[in-house]
Amino acid sequence: MVKAGLEDVVATDSSICFLDGKEGRLVYQGYDIHDLAKFSTFEETVFLLWYGRLPTRTELDGLNKELRSNRNISDDVVKMMRLLPKTADPMEVLRTAVSMLGILDPDDKQNDRAANIRKATRLTAQFPTIIAYWDHIRNGREPIKPSDEGTLAANLLFMLTGSQPDEYNAHVMDVALILHADHELNASTFAARVAAGTLTDMHSAIVAAIGALKGPLHGGANQEVIKMLLEIGSPEKVESYITQAFKEHKKIMGFGHRVYKTEDPRAWHLRQMSEELGRRANELKWYEMSRQIEGMVFKDKSLYCNVDFYSASVYYMLGIPVDLFTPIFAVSRVSGWTAHILEQYSNNRLIRPRAEYVGPSKLAYEQIEQRSKTALLG
Ligand code: ACO
Repeated sequence: MVKAGLEDVVATDSSICFLDGKEGRLVYQGYDIHDLAKFSTFEETVFLLWYGRLPTRTELDGLNKELRSNRNISDDVVKMMRLLPKTADPMEVLRTAVSMLGILDPDDKQNDRAANIRKATRLTAQFPTIIAYWDHIRNGREPIKPSDEGTLAANLLFMLTGSQPDEYNAHVMDVALILHADHELNASTFAARVAAGTLTDMHSAIVAAIGALKGPLHGGANQEVIKMLLEIGSPEKVESYITQAFKEHKKIMGFGHRVYKTEDPRAWHLRQMSEELGRRANELKWYEMSRQIEGMVFKDKSLYCNVDFYSASVYYMLGIPVDLFTPIFAVSRVSGWTAHILEQYSNNRLIRPRAEYVGPSKLAYEQIEQRSKTALLG
């Protein structure tokens, strides 16, 4: 009997990420996500994912230098972006830009580990630039060039808003990036590994991953959460809205998870940051509404919120446009995707499962003239 959605099917060995759905534990290369969120930086986490260990100071300085010096994107990619319809979904723009960056990549024809680390570095450095550039281009503004200083998180906020973020906001963005960096064989990472398993190039595998992350059942959920909060509008309206949603058997976005049967450990950090951002801005209503929804969904459905639920109010409070929420997820997850692609290449075998055939069999072939209309319509 085939398990729908490959639930609980183990598809590969991996040393990158350990996930315990019962205990609510998330571990990157042996390090608990709570420690990484507390003590690490996104750049250090990237090193950890790619190399399987924490860097020395010199190694981290080296990676920081590489990431900073690769933030620019080719003028041709910017020209291409200017030709796209301004209404294009930013995830589609990201997917298209990455495809073009692959063609232009200096290591395009190389598939050894050193070349792939260089590609992974460029991709990780360039994702924020693509997304911020697109937001300016579609709004008729000149893009803000990346700074060659500061963390990837601070530079992302700088390019989006045009001003340097304060220390707390930069910290929040950095922690959000750490929390989203990897999550074992989630749909987009699996898509990346399936593509890499054919020994196609890293950019092609990342394009496959971006396509999978875009869906509302995966990375697209964070945008749906904020749309719901905006639609509800105020804490007094939460109860009637959610009660009605339950009556209509609607899924409440940002809840439920294929693996976690308890609290998603990432949600804990995002909840704290959502509250603190609300407190600092004297606008706690998004946090308060989220808390109410969380209580109602747990009471009625015994479902916990996932990473997308509180990241929605966090990104909103950071001033990020709603349709950039999923691309921001990709800014982080590209580090995990590339780590998995590197791991796939290092011990590759084509990923080619089977399907249980449930269609008809032994049908007699009828010439087209003999086929009845009803059969065709049927
Ligand atoms: N709201 C209401 N009911 C839900 C929700 C929800 N968010 N999630 C699951 N359920 C219910 C389902 O209706 C189903 O009930 P039933 O058995 O009575 O039919 C049951 O819980 C099991 O749900 P499935 O959708 O079968 O669970 P699955 O493991 O296939 O899906 C998923 C997991 C996609 C995350 C699902 O919970 C969902 O759609 N959530 C909302 C979208 C979302 O937040 N996605 C982000 C996930 S995290 C990430 O990708 C980064």
